[in-house]
Parts: sequence; C-alpha cells; structure tokens
Amino acid sequence: MSLHIAAEKGAIADTVLMPGDPLRAKYAAEKFLDNSICYNEIRGMYGYTGTYKGKRISIQGSGMGQPSMGIYAYELMAFYDVKTIMRIGSCGAVQPEIELRDIILAMSASTNGGMNKGIFKGMDYSPCADSELFLTAAAKAKEMKLSMKAGNILSSDTFYDDDPEIWKLWARFGVLAIEMEASTLYTLAAKMGVKALAICTVSDSIVNETLLSPEDRERSFDDMILLGLETAVEME
Ligand code: HPA
Repeated sequence: MSLHIAAEKGAIADTVLMPGDPLRAKYAAEKFLDNSICYNEIRGMYGYTGTYKGKRISIQGSGMGQPSMGIYAYELMAFYDVKTIMRIGSCGAVQPEIELRDIILAMSASTNGGMNKGIFKGMDYSPCADSELFLTAAAKAKEMKLSMKAGNILSSDTFYDDDPEIWKLWARFGVLAIEMEASTLYTLAAKMGVKALAICTVSDSIVNETLLSPEDRERSFDDMILLGLETAVEME
C-alpha cells in the first residue's frame, strides 16, 4: 500500500491509463476492460485493473491539477513499479483550426506551475512525451481514422486565471491547447524511467468559444480510451 492507493503490490498493471475524473476511470473500466476489479477507493480516487484484448491494464483517476497528478503518478511509479502511463483527458484549444473532438497528442507540455523551476533551480526543463509511445499512438490514431494533432500543450495550474487573456501568449508561441496535468506527469516519468504520454480530447475551444455537448463529450472520451488501450496493446 502507498499513502493514497490501497492496492497490494502486484494489483496494478505495468501500463496505466489516467483520466482526471475518477468516475471516468470507473466508466472506462466497466465499459472496456474484461474482468476488472477495483483496487482503490481512498478519497473516491478509483483505480481498476482488468484486461483489454488479453493485455493487463489499469485505469486510475489522477484528480485535477498537477499536484494531484503528481501524487498518484509518483506512487504508481515508485511503489507499484508501473512502466507506462498514458493520461487520457480533456483540453481547451487555443488555435482556431483545432476543432472540438480533435485528439491532441502532447509531444511536450509547458507549464506555469512551479515544480520544474524548483527542481531545476530556476532553469528551464522541457517535459516531453516518450517517443516510442508517442509514435505508436500517432500511428494508431491514423489507423482508427481519428482527427489527431500533435505538438506543445500548456499544463496550467489555474483554470480561472487572473488574466483571462493570458492564453493568447501561449498561443502566439504555438501551444495547441491547455489542460492541467501533463507537464508534471512527463517530468516525473523522465526521472523515474517511465514511459509517459498525454492524449487529450478537445472538449472546448477557448479561441473559438465553443463547447462540446455532454453526448459528444462521452463519444470523444470513448475514442480516446480506445486509442489509449490500442496503443497499450501495440506497445507489447
Ligand atoms: N483549461 C484548462 N483545462 C482544461 C480546459 C481549459 O480550458 N478545458 C479542458 N481542460
């Protein structure tokens, strides 16, 4: 057991998908995994292990924001020997050509958070995805005919920013979309020798001021879960 995850060692698979919302972990496990069992209910941050096409996979909620992601991802890596983590989450687009339901593979994740500044004593570190995982997911997305884009995203520590126009600065430098968890995941994974990738579906467009309906949200989420699961199988 670790502090925030109640599982026995061995109860969590080598590969873990991490949605932000723990209820989405429950939904994904019940809909897509065979023989899934719930290994964690502490704080309602559900975690499940089951199989997909015969491969053992876990799905663990991360919570919202980098500190929460940091706690769960670190415990998976340090105490449960997890080797591959894919975040599956939503993001808000900041480039006008990016459409709702597009899937964004985060090649790199910038941040306005302070963790890397602390670790690297004020110098810049560029958190990036594992290249093999990224290339595998990109090929799978193409095969599944998903509308996919790849590039730099922003992992923001604020959802309601004091400066509502600040996204324009990031957009000017090519950032595709904003979410709240990937950068910390990438930094921790690099340190711990774990493969990581953030797969995000565009739930809203900050620049076009559009928003997915609840039904479309669910459909996009299903596409993204399947992309994560198929990528996991392909990585065997
Ligand atoms: N900002 C931050 N995180 C998000 C957003 C957003 O607009 N949309 C989905 N996740």
